[in-house]
Amino acid sequence: MIDGRTKLAGVMGWPVGHSRSPMLHNYWCRINGVNGAYLPLPTQPEHFSAALKGLMAAGFRGVNVTIPHKEAAMRLCDDLTDTAKRAGAVNTVFFENGRIIGECTDGTGFCENLIAHGVKIQGRVMILGAGGAARAVAAALLDRGCEVVIANRTLERAEALTAAMQGGEAVSWYDWPALLSGCSLLVNATSLGMEGGSEFDWLPLLSQAGPHLCVADIVYTPRETPFLMAAQSKRLKTVDGLGMLIYQARVGFRVWFGVEPKVDEDTFELLAASLR
Ligand SMILES: NC(=O)c1ccc[n+]([C@@H]2O[C@H](COP(=O)([O-])OP(=O)(O)OC[C@H]3O[C@@H](n4cnc5c(N)ncnc54)[C@H](OP(=O)(O)O)[C@@H]3O)[C@@H](O)[C@H]2O)c1
Repeated sequence: MIDGRTKLAGVMGWPVGHSRSPMLHNYWCRINGVNGAYLPLPTQPEHFSAALKGLMAAGFRGVNVTIPHKEAAMRLCDDLTDTAKRAGAVNTVFFENGRIIGECTDGTGFCENLIAHGVKIQGRVMILGAGGAARAVAAALLDRGCEVVIANRTLERAEALTAAMQGGEAVSWYDWPALLSGCSLLVNATSLGMEGGSEFDWLPLLSQAGPHLCVADIVYTPRETPFLMAAQSKRLKTVDGLGMLIYQARVGFRVWFGVEPKVDEDTFELLAASLR
């Protein structure tokens, strides 16, 4: 029941109806006995600044920000966490003592999901893609001491990313398959494999993979992507992208509602069912 003590958070986007965040956070409030509520906050771009400041003034703990507000959120923040600076993005905002603090939780969510699947984060990592998600993942893996290699269809974007992060090595899209033998982790952070996208034959590209290579996809619709299926046919360990979505949400929940939410099979099933 909502009362005068209910802690409030939400997600600002335009549109925002597709977001699974309200379902996930309100489920966590319920099962963790938290007096909290998480609202969808459809916000037109021209009202974003006033709305963000208004939510802070109205006593919200913070918000998630999604398309098209991520860049505006970054500009409006009084402070950015080191992770947000390194990732060059903000997807989570905390209101603290009248200040707007920007955080990026994608990289943390990616790593926490790997750890939950028993993967050791170490050694040489090959990341495919150089978009916003690839940068967040690369920054988190660099922070955890990995040697990061980034392969992207447009090489200049991979080079710009390693320069901006002051870390990692950029290689051409045609070179990554031959470099796999020394890698402990291969990550698809491109949009290849998303539902409705073009077909892509991954299997021949994995011929140099060692038996202990872990293969992770950040695409989560579908959950079993062609990339993961190719890796499974080579009997490699795989981790799908749904857990990253769940674990990245945990960072905000922890700060806004003061509880570490449990991630269990029911949490995965809730999200998976909503995506089917
Ligand atoms: N699991 C999660 O929680 C989570 C979180 C964030 C994002 N994601 C998913 O991650 C994916 C990427 O998101 P993003 O925001 O980083 O997107 P983005 O900024 O648009 O970047 C897309 C990336 O995919 C590459 N790409 C697209 N089509 C390609 C093709 N045909 N061949 C090779 N490379 C191709 C692009 O290469 P170019 O630079 O050459 O164009 C670029 O590196 C999306 O599927 C998104 O849903 C998942």
